Amino acid sequence: MSETSPTETVLTQTVAPGVFQITMNRPERRNALDRASYAGLIAALAAAEADEAIRAVVLTGAGNCFTSGNDIRDFAAAAGDGPRIAMDFLTAISTAQKPIVAAVEGFAVGIGTTMLLHCDLAYAGRSASFRLPFVTLGLSPEGASSYLLPLVAGSKRAAELLMLGEAFGADTAAEAGLVNAVVGEGEALQAALARATALAALPPQSVALTKMLLKRGAAATVAETIATEARHFGERLRSAEAMAAFAAFLKR
Ligand code: COA
Repeated sequence: MSETSPTETVLTQTVAPGVFQITMNRPERRNALDRASYAGLIAALAAAEADEAIRAVVLTGAGNCFTSGNDIRDFAAAAGDGPRIAMDFLTAISTAQKPIVAAVEGFAVGIGTTMLLHCDLAYAGRSASFRLPFVTLGLSPEGASSYLLPLVAGSKRAAELLMLGEAFGADTAAEAGLVNAVVGEGEALQAALARATALAALPPQSVALTKMLLKRGAAATVAETIATEARHFGERLRSAEAMAAFAAFLKR
């Protein structure tokens, strides 16, 4: 068992043989991802890739919350490497070779929802709430969601979720292909750990090869879409529409 300091914004721990849990850990901010959090996630994914003993990754959030998405203070500051490091995280999670299983309770907002498109399996507690509020914030889609969401959810559902930016529940997330199954409230981590433990017991090279084959058809388009979306997103961050939306959130 290994664990980083409890003050870290991302915790890592080997929770079962071959199963590495990554926990987003800023519960007082609903696990909003600031630059340190993205750096922690990138480092944790790299550690999982580098350690032969790790066969499956579980990704979750502390305090019965997945993540409220990018830290809006960082958006408001449009701080130097803010979008850059988010893009590096998206590249890392979208190209990870080991299986990733997400456990979602509470809120999964913005990148908290789009990162699920890059996890192999995902489980949501019944009261989990999802939202892609890019347009409502004056922004535009990220994480290859403009490509992957129509693929998994269908074009009408993807337009509804990405253009209107309304919150939606766990059943809708399952229908839209964002999660495998809805489980009882508070049971998502248990479900994810069970699936990760099952994956960890299977022949690792065969698991990795199957993941690669499942992803390879879309891989080049996913990488290109992440980059194209990031260019638009970077411009939108400096727009008057986005600045007004950030100020309104921070003034609440
Ligand atoms: N960035 C920065 N701070 C955030 C945040 C975010 N994405 N999400 C939540 N916080 C902060 C709040 O400002 C609040 O801080 P305060 O205690 O200093 O006032 C604290 O976390 C708790 O949030 P609160 O809104 O009171 O919790 P809630 O349970 O009522 O609502 C959310 C949770 C996630 C629905 C709501 O916080 C929210 O909509 N956050 C913004 C999500 C978002 O738009 N993310 C960007 C996506 S592109």
